[in-house]
Amino acid sequence: MPIMEPYRIKVVEPIPITTRPYRELAMSRAGYNPFNLAGEDVTIDLLSDSGTGALSAEQQAAGMRGDETYAGARSFFRFKDVVTELTGYEHIFPVHQGRAAERILFTSLLKPGQVSLSNTHFDTTRANVELIGCVARDLPSTAAKDLDSDAPFKGDIDLVALENALRGPDDIGLVLMTITNNGGGGQPVSMANLEAAAKLARAHGVPFFLDAARFAENAWMVNQHEPGYENLSPREIARVAFALADGCVASLKKDGIVHIGGLLAMRDPELAKRCELLLIATEGFKTYGGLSGRDLDMLAQGLLEVTEPTYLRARAEATAYLADMAQLAGVDSVRPAGIHAIYLNAGRLLPHIPPRRFPGHALACELYLAGGIRCAELGSLYLGELDASGELLNAAPYELVRLAIPRRVYTQSHLEYVAETLAEIAKSPEKVPGYRLTEVPPLLRHFNCRLEQVPG
Ligand code: F0G
Repeated sequence: MPIMEPYRIKVVEPIPITTRPYRELAMSRAGYNPFNLAGEDVTIDLLSDSGTGALSAEQQAAGMRGDETYAGARSFFRFKDVVTELTGYEHIFPVHQGRAAERILFTSLLKPGQVSLSNTHFDTTRANVELIGCVARDLPSTAAKDLDSDAPFKGDIDLVALENALRGPDDIGLVLMTITNNGGGGQPVSMANLEAAAKLARAHGVPFFLDAARFAENAWMVNQHEPGYENLSPREIARVAFALADGCVASLKKDGIVHIGGLLAMRDPELAKRCELLLIATEGFKTYGGLSGRDLDMLAQGLLEVTEPTYLRARAEATAYLADMAQLAGVDSVRPAGIHAIYLNAGRLLPHIPPRRFPGHALACELYLAGGIRCAELGSLYLGELDASGELLNAAPYELVRLAIPRRVYTQSHLEYVAETLAEIAKSPEKVPGYRLTEVPPLLRHFNCRLEQVPG
């Protein structure tokens, strides 16, 4: 059965169809770093599912109703009503994107030297914890270590490790659960795990927050796979998840289905006062937080559409379909397929490329060269330890490549094209060359580095 997207297309945007020689030139100009490619040289862009979704007709209409009043705009109250209904939190602040919420929360909540515990901190989340002199510690579940197991909730936090950490000796300032677990293969978190983690945090008097960027997608996976939740709607499940926490940070560029926007929300009025000051000083007045009225109205509508079961079902099926097609072609990915992305196991596909020649990066580059598909490595180039010249000192645990799927943008035939390109590569993987760094910036390496091919 084809996956029938539960929408039809009213506005189209041409995508460039390029030749291999054109892409070879573009890639060499980009220093073999897909982040340096111009968007108009990319045929299928799977670099991120963030801010890349398609707006609905209702969102466009809501945008037209946007109220651009400086303070107290109607748009803010529409946004606030939807977020209150969804989360139940008393204090709701819009921000321009997820990392702004992180910075404001951590600065207002944590003291230097404290530790933040998480199933996995997303990279900007970790950076914002570390920037204020705190430590970000990931405690992924042991199930996550087996990339091939079909356990349904490999995004969980390791509860034994969490309890041990909460007992001391470190000063724990925050427990942050990322749903779904983007840094951990895009795997969902079970409600049982959320509940147990919340209980432990509460017992030790430690604030418990969600990084809720993909709250609706997590709720869908719970509805499909966790006993006891099959009769609750994704929205009801999301509400239960928010109810377990003291508040949330969220990039709404994902499950808000908008191009820009974020959320910081909480129950504690004292903490809210501190956050509000920082919000006004650095993002904007508390009723717009760096967004326009138009953005807030489109968000209010997007946050309603994203929990529609027909939409979530089609999205989950499309992602699983891509993972299955890739596997049939001989390209394994982290199992089970998540919902916003699949994570290809490049280390397994390209055993002739050692970690120091970056097999994940090699596969990402090959996807562009072979098919104009852009994606990003999650392996030793991004996560490994390198010396100043770019030689690898310590490899990452896995050599993965993330194919992130924008919301409502690509159809089944686009995904089939991606799978066919992977199949072509998998016919003679030994032809894929490794890479060597030629420019190594000291910070945010994977965004700015340049590389060259190492044939053979
Ligand atoms: N938390 C998670 C789980 C995320 O995936 C992201 C962003 C952020 C926080 C930061 O939000 O970008 O709005 O500031 N993830 C994007 C991605 C960039 O491609 O996965 P932001």
